[in-house]
Amino acid sequence: MVNVLSRLLLFLISLHCFVACLATNTKNITTDQSSLLAFKSLITSDPYDMLSNNWSTSSPVCTWVGVTCDERHNRVHSLNLHNMSLRGIVSPNLGNLSFLVILNLSSNSFNGQFSKEIYWLHRLKVISIAFNEFVGGIPEALGDLSQLQIVHLGANNFRGFLPQSIGNLRQLKSFDIS
Ligand SMILES: *[C@@H]1O[C@H](CO)[C@@H](O)[C@H](O)[C@H]1NC(C)=O
Ligand SMILES: *[C@@H]1O[C@H](CO)[C@@H](O)[C@H](O)[C@H]1NC(C)=O
Ligand SMILES: *[C@@H]1O[C@H](CO)[C@@H](O)[C@H](O)[C@H]1NC(C)=O
Ligand SMILES: *[C@@H]1O[C@H](CO)[C@@H](O)[C@H](O)[C@H]1NC(C)=O
Ligand SMILES: *[C@@H]1O[C@H](CO)[C@@H](O)[C@H](O)[C@H]1NC(C)=O
Repeated sequence: MVNVLSRLLLFLISLHCFVACLATNTKNITTDQSSLLAFKSLITSDPYDMLSNNWSTSSPVCTWVGVTCDERHNRVHSLNLHNMSLRGIVSPNLGNLSFLVILNLSSNSFNGQFSKEIYWLHRLKVISIAFNEFVGGIPEALGDLSQLQIVHLGANNFRGFLPQSIGNLRQLKSFDIS
């Protein structure tokens, strides 16, 4: 009897965790919208008004400039803000774009450290942040993004050693840290 009760208790505890854990991990297109609005809020200069009026809650996030969505999952698939003269730091909330496959922020003036939350984006295949003003080191966690094919980090102010974990990136086709 004690055994049955303890099994039942264990089952209920696991069920509770399952439901609770599922709820906290559930992200959807609304999460993507708030992640991108958080990203926009840390942009301190947008001289050509690329995002200022366009990234507005009055239109669906999938129609925002630079944003494309994956129709099957209805989530943000790519973010391409190449050469838009944007300045600011990159919000850690970008790490909530859990279906992001392409991130292209090249040729802007993004600065500060490259947010470590980006290394949560396990579906990333392309990351280009070349020609910005990022500082700091390249973290080991880069090597955890096992789908990466194109990694362009060149023309920034990164310092330090290249993480050995880059050797784990078996899909890698193009790597530029010039
Ligand atoms: C997204 O999830 C939240 C709760 O996690 C829910 O309130 C909201 O309605 C969902 N939005 C869509 C578009 O499914
Ligand atoms: C935002 O920009 C996209 C791409 O240029 C355009 O298709 C869309 O209509 C714009 N949306 C608004 C609300 O201006
Ligand atoms: C970048 O944008 C500027 C201003 O919109 C434009 O003059 C320039 O040709 C662009 N450069 C590239 C490499 O696309
Ligand atoms: C998104 O990311 C931030 C910072 O990483 C976190 O604090 C926040 O709770 C996340 N929001 C959602 C809705 O997942
Ligand atoms: C980033 O976007 C620009 C403009 O669309 C494109 O020319 C460039 O090849 C992209 N970079 C990567 C690594 O895909």
